[in-house]
Amino acid sequence: MADRPTIMVTRLLPPPGPELMEQYFEVRGNREDRCMTREEMLAEVAGVDALLTLLTDRVDVDVLEAAGPSLRVVSNCAVGFDNIDVEEATRRNILVATTPGVLTDATAELTWALILSACRRVVEGDVMVRSGEFVGWTPTLLLGMELKGRVLGVVGMGRIGRAVAERAEAFGMTVLYTRRSGPLPPDSIPRGAEWQHTDSLRWLLATADVVSIHLPLSETTHHLLGRRELGLMKKGSVLINTSRGAVIDERALVDALREGPLRAAGLDVYEQEPRVAAGLVEAKNVVLLPHVGSATNETRGRMAKMAVMNARAAVCGESVPHAVNADKIR
Ligand code: DGY
Repeated sequence: MADRPTIMVTRLLPPPGPELMEQYFEVRGNREDRCMTREEMLAEVAGVDALLTLLTDRVDVDVLEAAGPSLRVVSNCAVGFDNIDVEEATRRNILVATTPGVLTDATAELTWALILSACRRVVEGDVMVRSGEFVGWTPTLLLGMELKGRVLGVVGMGRIGRAVAERAEAFGMTVLYTRRSGPLPPDSIPRGAEWQHTDSLRWLLATADVVSIHLPLSETTHHLLGRRELGLMKKGSVLINTSRGAVIDERALVDALREGPLRAAGLDVYEQEPRVAAGLVEAKNVVLLPHVGSATNETRGRMAKMAVMNARAAVCGESVPHAVNADKIR
């Protein structure tokens, strides 16, 4: 059908993404499970109504220019959108949509996998057994940090931060948190939970035993945890990051793991993905995952569906609930 809107997709999506796209759009782009090259992207995007991207695609002024005036929406199949030049898209009246909410639980669960792995040295133990270095029980083998009674510091009490905090109850931890818009309304805090708000990131870093980062990447949050902030962290504490790598200065992190004050870290994200800073791979006290916070069948399916439905709503002129710049589009 010639008059159906056109969508360009940059990579094979999990089901039901492909079928849904076919239902509403003329689909072009890349149906393989690999990144599109820059050249392919610039060539294929010309004249489309919608662009469906992933966090690995850089959507900058060149892509928007190559798309031309038909482009109505960039629908990112991710909750983060630091890969998109939103300012430029807004200037061109293009909506930028994301997939919030549907990946909250998966990411919170993975955050806890990292907390537990880092505190109880799970990966070190696994490597020891596989390599034949486990030669018998000893009273001092791989001693870790117990969580009960400890303080979990949540930097960024948004959806995911909150879901991580809620799970802290089960481990007998109290929660100290920062939140851009101030303290949570008291009636939104789970009954019996000890959650304390602070405006001071420094105080949180100096106080918490486990610090978990849940911030979007922006100019304000880039290297928010630099050498000085890492140096302020409580001695023997653990740092977890499942948000965006560049919120932490990775080189300073390597030093903080090697020389203190950190006991351990758990990372799912990196400054220059897929590259990892020199020194991190060698460090035994860091657990490294390949950006899989939302990687469950259920969640990736929901993200793909939401991304397609966001694009469909935008091209149909309907309101797009998950657009980050809707209020600025004419
Ligand atoms: C996101 O959606 O921004 C995550 O980093 C990937 O699932």
